[in-house]
Amino acid sequence: MQGAEAIGNAEVIFVGSPNWLKTFAPPVRSFLRTVDLDGKTIIPFCTHGGGGFGRMIEDYKRECEHSIIKDGIALKGDYSFDELKAWLDHNL
Ligand SMILES: Cc1cc2nc3c(=O)[nH]c(=O)nc-3n(C[C@H](O)[C@H](O)[C@H](O)COP(=O)(O)O)c2cc1C
Repeated sequence: MQGAEAIGNAEVIFVGSPNWLKTFAPPVRSFLRTVDLDGKTIIPFCTHGGGGFGRMIEDYKRECEHSIIKDGIALKGDYSFDELKAWLDHNL
């Protein structure tokens, strides 16, 4: 599978989703179950309507128990680019 091949060479993967019903959207769950992310570092990011990550981080840890899940960033739907840039500057 072409997608899986491309992921194969990456050590750090940003995975993003809107918060839907306190967790990631179903296509993201399919992605996590389809692609081999063992040993990879996952940096989650999400947009939300007020609930932050909800239980998304726990769900990442359950779906990807052999990956390293970093704190990542949860941004409210009306976030400013400055907020994102400050996080990127501080964390990367
Ligand atoms: C089906 C659905 C479920 C949602 N559930 C939540 C939720 O549990 N918690 C929350 O904070 N926001 C929730 N939201 C709000 C979305 O996270 C928010 O609208 C989205 O992140 C903004 O990105 P968008 O412009 O791509 O929709 C939900 C939105 C939809 C459509």
